[in-house]
Amino acid sequence: MVERECARLIERYAIEHIIETGTYKGTTTRFFSSFGIPVDTIEIDQTNFSEASASLRDASNVTVHIGNSVSVLQTLIPKLPSRTLFYLDAHWHSYWPLRDELTMIREHLPQAVIIIDDFKTPFRNYNFDCYIQGPCDINYVRDVLPNTCTYYYLNKTLRVPTGVGKLFVVPDTPSDLVQLENGVLFSTTP
Ligand SMILES: C[S@@+](CC[C@H](N)C(=O)[O-])C[C@H]1O[C@@H](n2cnc3c(N)ncnc32)[C@H](O)[C@@H]1O
Repeated sequence: MVERECARLIERYAIEHIIETGTYKGTTTRFFSSFGIPVDTIEIDQTNFSEASASLRDASNVTVHIGNSVSVLQTLIPKLPSRTLFYLDAHWHSYWPLRDELTMIREHLPQAVIIIDDFKTPFRNYNFDCYIQGPCDINYVRDVLPNTCTYYYLNKTLRVPTGVGKLFVVPDTPSDLVQLENGVLFSTTP
């Protein structure tokens, strides 16, 4: 994951709460816990849930939930502040919850900051996910993003250890922080 861009967003938007869908082993959860704000992470697989819960036991600001991200979000979302960052990374099973997660965020928290992992980046060679629904790209999610948001991608000059693409969605138009390339916005975070 791209720690520097996440940290910049958390500071810039004064994020008060973080939600991660798809905990897996809790590696990214551990990173998010370092910001000292509440972190809720949701995992559908019992084995992953147990392992992550054990490894995050010492992180007092983290709550690990077992269940389908969409069902758990239904319970969590009414209590979340508008300054919430969502890290959407739940996939690998037959049901891909991404569009349902975004629909819920768009309806309840349109000012949220959203990061989608494993996303196809135009003009770049980052890896991305592909399912029977198609690639994880902007065509798949555009209509379920918040109405007035800006979305952008990582630039290839960034240090990206995993080489996986991400989509960043913010509630304003941070023209000072992104650059335009062929109509597509990219981060300028060094
Ligand atoms: C790519 S891994 C997450 C990696 C983790 N976010 C990280 O950065 O280390 C995807 C995880 O999503 C979980 N998952 C898949 N569908 C889910 C759903 N509907 N609700 C919650 N978790 C789900 C999988 O079991 C798997 O552990």
